[in-house]
Amino acid sequence: MQDTRRRVLDAIADGPVPGPEIADRLDVSRAAVWKHIEALREAGFSIEGGDAGYELVTVPEFGGEAVAFGLDAPFEVEYHDSIPSTNDRARELAAEGRENVVVLADEQTGGRGRLDREWAAPSGGIWLSILLRPTVPPADAPAFTLAAAVATTRAAREAGIDATIKWPNDVLVTDGDGRDRKLTGILTEMEGEADRVSWIVVGIGINANVDAGDLVEGATSLREENGDVNRRVFTQRVLEEFHDLGSDLDSVVPAWRDLADTLGRRVRVDTPGGEVVGEAVDVEFPGALVVETDDGRVRVSAGDCEHLRPI
Ligand code: BTN
Repeated sequence: MQDTRRRVLDAIADGPVPGPEIADRLDVSRAAVWKHIEALREAGFSIEGGDAGYELVTVPEFGGEAVAFGLDAPFEVEYHDSIPSTNDRARELAAEGRENVVVLADEQTGGRGRLDREWAAPSGGIWLSILLRPTVPPADAPAFTLAAAVATTRAAREAGIDATIKWPNDVLVTDGDGRDRKLTGILTEMEGEADRVSWIVVGIGINANVDAGDLVEGATSLREENGDVNRRVFTQRVLEEFHDLGSDLDSVVPAWRDLADTLGRRVRVDTPGGEVVGEAVDVEFPGALVVETDDGRVRVSAGDCEHLRPI
């Protein structure tokens, strides 16, 4: 959000303040205050204007200005009602040299998943991509993916949903029949040189206020699990948690271990080098899964993981 607009909102958040007083405080003209108030109303903020001045009454449930308002993380938010893919848009912004931008959408018409799969992204979800330029080697990049899974799982638990993480980054809810249903998917893309990441885009798709019937088989949503959430608050929590974890990468793996459902389970991991089957015993920085197989311990950096029934 534009800095002056954010300061106007901050000024009127705790009670009515006369326009001239806002103008004085912010060192802008009265006309500029009025323009910001109008722009905020258009963005869905309900602002009363009585004798005592302007007062913020309600904040919209979703949108760029809404998510940026009160967000405790240093991201700009670019919002779209509908866009082909927030990851594609974030990549364009990366090519323009931008950073610390979140591209957020209500609906995606060409959402992309891992392994070139399509990602269903109907209206009502939280589809977002975070563009960063961290000063880390490319080998550390998986830690950001894990951080996104932790951030989303924490937000889901705060919303009353018993979510867990399947390695490396699927956020799941287990139904009454023991079947895992996917709540969130994460697609991380990056560009870099041998020793440094140039940019990284962490795409997070949260099935929020959508019907399971509008998603792929096996998926669930926040709505299905516990009713609709306030997407503004949920998004803010994800971004704040993600920022905290991303600022201290050593904290990511311990946080991931606490929320994961994979450790201690029998797994089959489809890796580029073949199938690995055994008990998942640990995750090591920046995100490798350690599997105890019949032939000894194997460290897997990437692959599709399936939880197997115990034998
Ligand atoms: C997966 O296959 O599990 C990853 C899905 C990632 C989907 C998100 S939605 C926001 C962002 N934009 C995209 O096109 N994809 C990611």
